[in-house]
Amino acid sequence: MPLSRRGSGSLVLPTGQTLAQHTRTQDEEQLPHATKRTMADHLRRFETLFTLTPQRMRIIVSSFKETLETGLDKPDQTVPMIPTFVFGWPSGNEKGEFLAIDLGGTNLRVCLLNLQGNGKFEITQSKYRLSEEQKQDDGQKLFDFCVDCLKLFIEANSGEDGILQLVPGQKIPLGFTFSYPCKQDKIDHGILIRWTKGFGSPNTEGKNVAEMFREALSKHDLPVELTALINDTTGTLIASRYVNPTTKIACIFGTGCNAAYMEHVKDIPKIKHLGIDGDQDMAINCEWGAFDSFEHEHLPRTKYDIIIDESSNKPGEQAFEKLISGRYLGEIVRLIICELIDEGVLFLGQNTYKLEVPNAFDTALLSLMESDPTDELLMIIGLFSHFFALETTLAERQFLRAIARLVGRRAARLSACGIASIVEKMGYIEEGCSVGADGSLYNKYPGFAERIHEGLVDIFGERGRNIVTHHAEDGSGVGSAIIAAMTKERKAAGIYVDL
Ligand code: BGC
Repeated sequence: MPLSRRGSGSLVLPTGQTLAQHTRTQDEEQLPHATKRTMADHLRRFETLFTLTPQRMRIIVSSFKETLETGLDKPDQTVPMIPTFVFGWPSGNEKGEFLAIDLGGTNLRVCLLNLQGNGKFEITQSKYRLSEEQKQDDGQKLFDFCVDCLKLFIEANSGEDGILQLVPGQKIPLGFTFSYPCKQDKIDHGILIRWTKGFGSPNTEGKNVAEMFREALSKHDLPVELTALINDTTGTLIASRYVNPTTKIACIFGTGCNAAYMEHVKDIPKIKHLGIDGDQDMAINCEWGAFDSFEHEHLPRTKYDIIIDESSNKPGEQAFEKLISGRYLGEIVRLIICELIDEGVLFLGQNTYKLEVPNAFDTALLSLMESDPTDELLMIIGLFSHFFALETTLAERQFLRAIARLVGRRAARLSACGIASIVEKMGYIEEGCSVGADGSLYNKYPGFAERIHEGLVDIFGERGRNIVTHHAEDGSGVGSAIIAAMTKERKAAGIYVDL
């Protein structure tokens, strides 16, 4: 058989990274490899494991809806359905200068927002990298770091030429987007129920994080007052509504996953004692990532999901999130690949140690594998040779891409189940609604939104087309500022001033 050479060259990834293209001195059919038949058998096995039928989805939606209702009814449920004290929708006329801090995953962001009314705004922002150590460091240190960054930001943007004009004696209202489940008694308060997304800072769970933030603020003389503690989903709900009045639900599909929507206070029995007018609306942060945690009775978990759960820093928790979010999808695929390496199906005779490291397979790689436009799957050749020093046959690459599809599709279809449960609970299916969605998975994973929409049609039939997701406005920045503005206005008008 003649030797084939692909030639050398380079491949530019959508991330901007350049990969040296693989050059082979032997035809890939000469690599030891499993037969196409064996691969097809394995693929069928994974299809059965990862495919969610419409019927199964409807069963999940029905138990999900019950869980949402229980969370509104009783305090301290697994899916806590947190009343946020964001009362109703923004008017669109919110105006003024606000600061926002966003602590939610990889980075810390500080923003200055100038809300100009009529859905218009200007934003200036800086990002600060959070190290893995900081995510596990003492909680107070984390909030001290937030305030240090805020101080740097204010210093950099104030002064004679700065865009931030400080008025002596006046404090700028700040919305703190803290994207972890916090039980709130009022809008500028929040007891951290549990860390998620790999954070684990001690001395924080069970504590009022707003107070910890104020403690950090008190160490400096900053012209800032904490006005509202916000979840990213609530910010997204309000920011999306600010620009699109058909928005009724907001979701984040990123490192974590969650949703928020607007509820009638009369349908939140657990806060009846607060005496709020039942016709008032209040945003609910569902914290749906916790659906089916601990008991694991409703969701179809595979053995790979169980391994991920058990080896996580929070076993048993965030069961729904662990099947969907960007933090876990790459690892699911990696575990499947490792199993097939052990069974002698993939990468025969090659040194696979680089793939055997936990979390070595980023979810971004799945996106790239799914978006490879070439027949030969050149992107996948590049990815495996560059990151894992592995050669792949075309059959292996097709198989790997099919696995990525199964895992990505399951995540999107489960996301559709979550959205459908809110739609069904609120009776939105006939009139339809927009769902503002954000997060790396939603924004970058090819076909994620389309698969959610397909899932909604599988659940509701043709009426499912009435529910449409769209890319949301920046919830943690813009949304946070609008909520701070709404809160200032509400309190100035003497409405529920203690909440
Ligand atoms: C957190 C939520 C957050 C979501 C998306 C989850 O892990 O519990 O509070 O909204 O991630 O960032």
